[in-house]
Amino acid sequence: MRAVVVEQGRGPALLDRPEPEPHDGEVLVEVLWSGVNYKDGLALRGDPGVAKIDPLVPGIDVVGRVVAASGEVAQGDLVVVNGAGLGETRDGGYADRVVVAAESLVVLPENVSPRRAAAVGTAGFTAMLSVLRLERDVAPGDGEIVVTGAAGGVGSVAVMLLSRLGYSVTASSGRLETESDYLRSLGATSVIDRAELASEGRPLQRARWAGAIDGVGSSTLATLLAQTSWGGVVTACGLAQGSDLPTTVLPFILRGVTLAGVNSVDAPPALRRTAWRRLATDLDLDLLDTATTEVDLADVVDAGRRVLAGETRGRTVVRVGA
Ligand SMILES: NC(=O)c1ccc[n+]([C@@H]2O[C@H](COP(=O)([O-])OP(=O)(O)OC[C@H]3O[C@@H](n4cnc5c(N)ncnc54)[C@H](OP(=O)(O)O)[C@@H]3O)[C@@H](O)[C@H]2O)c1
Repeated sequence: MRAVVVEQGRGPALLDRPEPEPHDGEVLVEVLWSGVNYKDGLALRGDPGVAKIDPLVPGIDVVGRVVAASGEVAQGDLVVVNGAGLGETRDGGYADRVVVAAESLVVLPENVSPRRAAAVGTAGFTAMLSVLRLERDVAPGDGEIVVTGAAGGVGSVAVMLLSRLGYSVTASSGRLETESDYLRSLGATSVIDRAELASEGRPLQRARWAGAIDGVGSSTLATLLAQTSWGGVVTACGLAQGSDLPTTVLPFILRGVTLAGVNSVDAPPALRRTAWRRLATDLDLDLLDTATTEVDLADVVDAGRRVLAGETRGRTVVRVGA
């Protein structure tokens, strides 16, 4: 089978490889689609923080067809797996076939095509997990929600989901000149320059947001906490600006703000199924198509470089066996 293989000390290459074999608790999947996430960009360049085995087949998303029945899935079922170690601690989706842990599989909802499931990908799945957490404490009438890194994968899907659920959404982006119209087309009611949030400020500022979905971290996340109103929720899933967090306890003890971490990789099976059920009903899949770019397996290395350079818009899907 074909696979994109990253070996330390060498660049990534599209190679012929033997087919993997499933063991107990695992399922062999024929890959139809994968995607390009920020983390895939890091794996493709051999970043040891992500590429934890050597050699590694990157690709943290898999959408495909079950080759042989196992546990709760039948032969021919269309399934999706996000994270769960794929493309990090075990070989991932940039190959014709992949072995996945059975418990991480979700059978695709009927109305979601394999290509659209890949367009959702880890980024969209993470956006859904963030929304699920936010809506526990923040209702659409409570005030403005800000989404950072809005033109990226997590951000784009978060804007789409929140606006469809009736929240008023401000999109924060570093590319206002080129992406403002795009962000409004996804449902953002306002767009702001990410520079407004990026620099370190006072630990408590004028309350602007009822909640926030952040994939950026660092001083941007600190500013979001400082500007969130009483009882608001800020979700944190990413570190596009940095992994530091220069803040104080003041937003927590004076405004009861919640900082909620989001981790898609190790999401338990029941939460995976809940998130995908909600994605199938709450995401405008036609709109998602407008935020999706397609590449072939042979072009995935360049696509990874562009994601890391912040040059991509929305989601990139990888055609593997479809
Ligand atoms: N915890 C999890 O389970 C999980 C899951 C998925 C992703 N993530 C993380 O979430 C983040 C976003 O992932 P993604 O797949 O959406 O990546 P992406 O498509 O590359 O989007 C990231 C966006 O962040 C913004 N950005 C980039 N550099 C920045 C900087 N220096 N300062 C401020 N903003 C910056 C850009 O948006 P604008 O151009 O609009 O400014 C960029 O499009 C990454 O850190 C990723 O590793 C975590």
